[in-house]
Amino acid sequence: MDKPKKKKYAIKVKDLYKIYMIGTNKVRALNGVNFAIEKGTFCCIVGTSGSGKSTLLNMMAGLEPPTKGEIVIAGEHMERKNEAQLVNFRQAHVGFIFQSYNLLPNMTAIENIALPLTFQGMDKAKRIKKAKKALKLVGLQEFGNHRPGQMSGGQQQRVGIARALVVNPEIIFADEPTGNLDSNTTLDVLKLIKKIVAENKQTVVMVTHDNNLASYGDMIIHIKDGKITEIEQNRQVNEDLDNVELGGTLDIPSEMSDEAALSAQPAEPQPVSAEQPAASDLEASKGKQAIENVTVPSYEGYHPGTSGNDPGSA
Ligand SMILES: Nc1ncnc2c1ncn2[C@@H]1O[C@H](COP(=O)(O)OP(=O)(O)OP(=O)(O)O)[C@@H](O)[C@H]1O
Ligand SMILES: [Mg+2]
Repeated sequence: MDKPKKKKYAIKVKDLYKIYMIGTNKVRALNGVNFAIEKGTFCCIVGTSGSGKSTLLNMMAGLEPPTKGEIVIAGEHMERKNEAQLVNFRQAHVGFIFQSYNLLPNMTAIENIALPLTFQGMDKAKRIKKAKKALKLVGLQEFGNHRPGQMSGGQQQRVGIARALVVNPEIIFADEPTGNLDSNTTLDVLKLIKKIVAENKQTVVMVTHDNNLASYGDMIIHIKDGKITEIEQNRQVNEDLDNVELGGTLDIPSEMSDEAALSAQPAEPQPVSAEQPAASDLEASKGKQAIENVTVPSYEGYHPGTSGNDPGSA
């Protein structure tokens, strides 16, 4: 007898609030957010400037504590961890791709990619080997000895992607990863991220203000004034992305255990509005996005909350 398949959730968010006090004023950056992201999903969070996208991403990544609510990732509650536990958790489970490069200018591509592995205490030979593999994955094997200043924006962002991937994270968080790239490069980078994570069954949460870019997501979460206004499930639309050439796959560890995630209450279903992205919108989006440079900083040097827009530069 076939048992109904249990859904595996990479991330569950329940009743999440983030309230900033500015003097006596309360800023409700997140105002009661609920959703669950299935493992292997390319999830886009889309909304206008100030809607709460980065705040939400930072909470999920354990970079900022919520005012209230629960975040369960890889079966573990982010809001119950202390700072040291969060650092360990991120090193083990999470990769970041940010809009601003933050590649270290005096390091080569290989050295930049290998950097997160030094936090894991890995020896140098092994680090370099893994970094080379990740570089190949993003199609830049010829550029290993180039420094960031000797590469185009798109190439730098590919190095950034490799740097996020090198630790084999189950989840990759990306805040406007194509925000500095031209339209063609944007699509290349987006397809690359989508393809790699699909092959490795990783989960991506990407923040964007661009509805057209968001339409590439399997799941699209619309956010406005700290609230979710709509969640779209969009899995079948992206078959054209299947033909991107890549250099190989990473060894991803076995299935993420999500017992604890499943033991948490299912997220409340969100009100769904009528607006669905038409296939023609997707087509239209292909020539549209604006972009030109991208990078991935290490999250361990990153202090969120000092800038509303670009955590990488904080
Ligand atoms: N550290 C902070 N202190 C006070 N208010 C903050 C802080 N960080 C964010 N906010 C406020 O919370 C709201 C959501 O900000 P957030 O940075 O999440 O927006 P966003 O959707 O990422 O916008 P953008 O597209 O411009 O990056 C905004 O009103 C912002 O001013
Ligand atoms: Mg932001």
